[in-house]
Amino acid sequence: MTGRFEAYCQRKEQAASAAAIPGYVTAEIRDCGGLVSLENPWSRALFDGVFYRSAVAARPGTPSASLVFVQSRDGNTVASDPSVLGGGDTDLHLIYEGLSRVDADAVLAGAATARGKDIVFSVWHPQLVALRLARGKPRHPAQVVVTVAGSLRFDEGLMFQEPSLRVFVITRSGAVKTIQDRLAGKPWIEVIDAGEPVSFACAMQQLGRRGIEVLSCVGGPRTAKGLLDEQLVRDIYLTTSGIDAGTPGTPYHGGQPPRVDRAVLKEGQGIEAGVRFEHLIVRQE
Ligand SMILES: NC(=O)c1ccc[n+]([C@@H]2O[C@H](COP(=O)([O-])OP(=O)(O)OC[C@H]3O[C@@H](n4cnc5c(N)ncnc54)[C@H](OP(=O)(O)O)[C@@H]3O)[C@@H](O)[C@H]2O)c1
Repeated sequence: MTGRFEAYCQRKEQAASAAAIPGYVTAEIRDCGGLVSLENPWSRALFDGVFYRSAVAARPGTPSASLVFVQSRDGNTVASDPSVLGGGDTDLHLIYEGLSRVDADAVLAGAATARGKDIVFSVWHPQLVALRLARGKPRHPAQVVVTVAGSLRFDEGLMFQEPSLRVFVITRSGAVKTIQDRLAGKPWIEVIDAGEPVSFACAMQQLGRRGIEVLSCVGGPRTAKGLLDEQLVRDIYLTTSGIDAGTPGTPYHGGQPPRVDRAVLKEGQGIEAGVRFEHLIVRQE
């Protein structure tokens, strides 16, 4: 592991450990069947019950994929600083960087979401790291980034400099060679040819063949729309804050909302009163 990544991991783990997490209380729960339980005593106490994900994928041969989003009360997901959306620390540390990816083989993001210089999508709270390791998963999920124009920081982005990670770049056929050339000498990064134009179904099938069975997709809305339009998502973990915020007209689905059933509704407590967490399951139609 490089010193840069070691320092990044320490910072993220310390921030998660130091966070005061108010936790949720259960408002509604429905037995939807076919779910995998993810929990330990620590998470059960803060989440007020068991966290679930679907056991099967939305389409055969693709990973079991979830979408994780925080939205403002008025339904916006884009903001220059995501914390202004008002999701709170339970969302950030218990859900987003925690239970939603605790047994994920990979985390997928669009190029705009993954463009930062220092970004690695992983699990950081020591209790959730322990749960992940107890489930036999490697310390960090693989990183998957979707780009059409190749607009990523291949020369300085942390995930493109860290040989201990496994990284996939999904792109259109016409951009594969250029991106491969830019990534020469970095054998931990694989470029996936998802067709022309990009087919998310094609990309997911290829991830499935590479052993990615559980995939956490973290947006943004453009990527989420692509995944939803191709019916590749089964679970949606949606946290709605108690405030109006964000860029108007930026719903998580990027267009038409999917048809869903609600498996779980939780409510925030204390300083997070007004926050709602929902586990939604996309209908198979
Ligand atoms: N509230 C939340 O939970 C949440 C979660 C994630 C992100 N966000 C916010 O969302 C914003 C970014 O969202 P976004 O929707 O603009 O970006 P995004 O989905 O993160 O990335 C879009 C980029 O990904 C590639 N891409 C993904 N799907 C594509 C498709 N179907 N067709 C063509 N290209 C595709 C393209 O990359 P190239 O340009 O390289 O071709 C495109 O420009 C950020 O401000 C971020 O903070 C919020």
